[in-house]
Amino acid sequence: MTKGFQVAIDGPASAGKSTVAKLVAQKFGYIYCDTGAMYRAVTLAALQQKIDLNDQVKVAAIAENLPLRFETGDPQQVWLGDQNVTQLIRTNEVAQNVSTVAAIPAVRQAMVKMQREIASQNNIVMDGRDIGTTVLPQAPVKIFMVASAHERARRRYLDNQARGIATQSIEELQKAIELRDQKDSTRKVSPLVQAADAIRLDTTALTIDEVVNEIIKKVKDN
Ligand code: CDP
Ligand code: CDP
Repeated sequence: MTKGFQVAIDGPASAGKSTVAKLVAQKFGYIYCDTGAMYRAVTLAALQQKIDLNDQVKVAAIAENLPLRFETGDPQQVWLGDQNVTQLIRTNEVAQNVSTVAAIPAVRQAMVKMQREIASQNNIVMDGRDIGTTVLPQAPVKIFMVASAHERARRRYLDNQARGIATQSIEELQKAIELRDQKDSTRKVSPLVQAADAIRLDTTALTIDEVVNEIIKKVKDN
């Protein structure tokens, strides 16, 4: 099904997945695939088209015809058709609605298909919620990254500020993150859960470099 080397990184919101995944990909010259950005892009497109997010048929149609494109850059640029949505997919409104969209089975089917296509052509580091369990179950390196909810909210707060995104307080962010994690962990299709063969990495007290080096070691061991 797939060729090339695969590193799967899953875990709850703001555990540090995308930051670390990008650096690991850079180190080995692999491509990086941010699957959360894909679900966020579907959500944004549905909101922009004023579609009722509970109308699963209409939302699925958007996912199946999503004109999504990633462009190399720091940060990686995300395009929907000719609209640059890199910032727009990070708003509170998208964050609050993305779990509803991501729970729709047909949306997941369309996203997983796209993700497997990308992985079939490249050495890849892919991060998300179901990479090790569903998208790339054969990946030789699987990491399940966690951190305390308070630390994750603190990181997201600083991250929002650095990106110039209007941010809620740390306490509000923690509540929102916990709610999203709960929805992601309890949905019927591909819930957020650690794969049996994934390595659990608690990053609460680790620096980015420490986490990156830990994963680099695992890749080299393979
Ligand atoms: O960056 P953050 O941790 O806030 O989230 P994200 O990785 O951008 O993912 C946003 C949302 O997309 C998650 O809360 C999930 O609802 C959904 N998602 C998913 O269901 N499966 C994935 N593989 C990736 C994201
Ligand atoms: O992708 P995910 O939502 O899991 O998290 P992220 O967006 O990569 O990380 C959120 C923030 O935590 C970023 O600003 C990182 O710089 C910071 N951070 C980290 O990723 N890992 C650490 N060990 C410490 C901080």
